[in-house]
Amino acid sequence: MIFPDYRPRRLRQNGLFRAMVRETRLSSSQFIYPLFIKPGKGVREEISSMPGVLRLSVDQLVREANECLEVGVKSLLLFGLPESKDAAGSGAYAKNGIVQQAVRELKSKVPEIMVVTDVCLCEYTDHGHCGVIVNKEVDNDSTLELLAKTALSHAEAGADMVAPSDMMDGRVAELRATLDENDFSHVPIMAYSVKYASSFYGPFREAADGAPQFGDRCGYQMDPANAREAFREAAMDVEEGADIIMVKPAVAYLDIISKLHAEFDHPIAAYHVSGEYAMIKAAAANGWIDGDRVMMETLLSIHRAGADIIITYGAKDMARILNKR
Ligand code: PBG
Repeated sequence: MIFPDYRPRRLRQNGLFRAMVRETRLSSSQFIYPLFIKPGKGVREEISSMPGVLRLSVDQLVREANECLEVGVKSLLLFGLPESKDAAGSGAYAKNGIVQQAVRELKSKVPEIMVVTDVCLCEYTDHGHCGVIVNKEVDNDSTLELLAKTALSHAEAGADMVAPSDMMDGRVAELRATLDENDFSHVPIMAYSVKYASSFYGPFREAADGAPQFGDRCGYQMDPANAREAFREAAMDVEEGADIIMVKPAVAYLDIISKLHAEFDHPIAAYHVSGEYAMIKAAAANGWIDGDRVMMETLLSIHRAGADIIITYGAKDMARILNKR
């Protein structure tokens, strides 16, 4: 019998002991804050299902980036809402596309903030799928070249890192080869390696206007029932040259984060997605939970499970709390 010799409460009796033996600490350096960029001037539009998250025009970005730096958020993830959409998602790889403009603006005026770009076609295609359609299916191999063009255009604009979220097979290798051939061998790839066909993306699709106009994404994103398949996806991406592997969503998939953390030595990112954020905000707005505390506990848990990097809409608010003196 170990009790009463061992009493776990001894090291919980006050804040000094608790801080001394704390196993996991969150830091705002781990956060990546997603932003949605729209055409126009002076646009600051709140997304109704994601309180606190804005769609911004390019001219509003410098102010936003400076606010982020002030509270301790050092990295942004950009999503674009283009002026117009077409079947091939050409806005994604246009030299003067919305994200390319945003990256140039940020890197010229706030160079100290890290700019990561989402590489995908779904916000730019009129059908809302993440690749081009051939015979009513999302065609893998003809999409690869367009994704690589997108990543290259982001790197040329000055992106610090690219993050492919499309889930086409072989896209990491394609992006790596294209970046390397064009003197961007220093630009890392954060691959959405383990991205599930999740219903938690609902609010994002409103925010980014990227819902599929027919069918769903089950033919390319992973089945939420599968855990072992995550190893194959992650191993492939690592083999193809991914620098960071991502699991998405985060909270409903903490088991996957934990397993990948045990198996791989590449840094692991987790995307705390729109639906996961919106649920906390909605419950808090009803007075049912303390929103800030639940958000912090959620991010801490994602980190404890094994994520080194957390992409979250709560980044600014949580950084403000973490860095308060
Ligand atoms: C685009 C993309 C999506 C998200 C990030 N990139 C939507 C989707 O795959 O349908 C979701 C992010 C979120 O819900 O916060 N492929």
